[in-house]
Amino acid sequence: MTSLAGKSVLLIVGGGIAAYKVHELVRLLKTRGATVRIILTRAAEQFVTPLSLASLSGEKVYTSLFSLTDEVEMGHIQLSRAADLLVVAPATADLIAKMANGLADDLASTALLATDKRILVAPAMNVRMWRHPATMRNIETLQRDGVTLAGPSDGEMACGEFGPGRMAEPNEILTAIVDMLKPKAQPLAGRKVVITAGPTREPIDPVRFISNHSSGKQGYAIARAAVELGAETVLVSGPVSLPIPPGVQLMPVETAQEMLEICEGEMPADIAIFTAAVADWRVAAEAPEKIKKTGSGPPSLMLAENPDILATISRSAKRPRIVVGFAAETEHVTEHAVQKLKRKGCDLIVANDVSRDAGVFGGDRNTIHLVSATGVEDWPQMSKDDVAQKLMERLAQMLVPQQKTEE
Ligand code: C5P
Repeated sequence: MTSLAGKSVLLIVGGGIAAYKVHELVRLLKTRGATVRIILTRAAEQFVTPLSLASLSGEKVYTSLFSLTDEVEMGHIQLSRAADLLVVAPATADLIAKMANGLADDLASTALLATDKRILVAPAMNVRMWRHPATMRNIETLQRDGVTLAGPSDGEMACGEFGPGRMAEPNEILTAIVDMLKPKAQPLAGRKVVITAGPTREPIDPVRFISNHSSGKQGYAIARAAVELGAETVLVSGPVSLPIPPGVQLMPVETAQEMLEICEGEMPADIAIFTAAVADWRVAAEAPEKIKKTGSGPPSLMLAENPDILATISRSAKRPRIVVGFAAETEHVTEHAVQKLKRKGCDLIVANDVSRDAGVFGGDRNTIHLVSATGVEDWPQMSKDDVAQKLMERLAQMLVPQQKTEE
């Protein structure tokens, strides 16, 4: 039985019939030695009492009627910061919608917005509410924000209907909590990883630019995986619409030249991973004013070649121990990657097929081929998160026998 001694869980209880199950969850957590602080929403108070939960947890239970005295004892920000993990059980459709939209109009939603810790959500609601497109959309948003789900499961519901929407059982929620609180190996502690991601944006004039469809998803997933393995992680990112991964140092850039300058400034590093879809060309001279239609046909744009960031860093005096490039190809994927490995002077090329049919751009899955000087490894199709984790674990292994960067 894994002990949770020294761990602190902030349990946020929503107002649903499944709230009765949190008594058992609190008991299980206490048996493992965890500290459990509890917030009840106003609706939750209709289903369970602060008194019963305070008796079980041995801690004060906070309610929506959060008083000034409470705030002095344990401020609402401190309440979520002091926890190692936040658990929302039962997570009602309303609470999920608030989380997905960043609303903070009571103690529970404020604590959820104020936290920088991981969040486990155990949804519980009527099957139609669960299947409603609004709930599905909100759940997708939460997953994109890095929230973990426990359940819901299928079964008969309190309302007499049958289907998904039943809250996961307390022992299932406990298993998810134990897994999330398990100390992870941090082989990259004390190491620095620099990652480029997203597209670059090359201005034509003050209102127009040249860019591409890169979503930045793969690079952001790699940054999350690097943080999880304990690395100091710098993410040099072109314009994307993704949340900043917790623990990452984000360096936002627009053009390829800016991206290169920031990367050079971040050296030395132990590992550099270039996932950015850098525009190959920029407009040689950006027009200072918006280019007007003159009636004498379209303007000609003179292009200039952008610096190759990967090749430049690979060949610099401050070259990181491991340099990884990406190759987005639409044909002859591995052959081109092998040539690219040599041309760019990197240690690994992660090659992927970005032809329209493959659905890589903007999608959540990726099929990659890992090309090194010793050969090609074909990985099965997996999520971009799994690619990121596997890749970072591999890079950590490659680095282990070597010494850390001397500053
Ligand atoms: O040459 P190609 O664009 O296919 O190479 C892709 C790899 O090179 C990617 O890792 C990309 O991030 C990197 N690259 C770069 N600077 C460029 C062009 C590509 O860092 N100007």
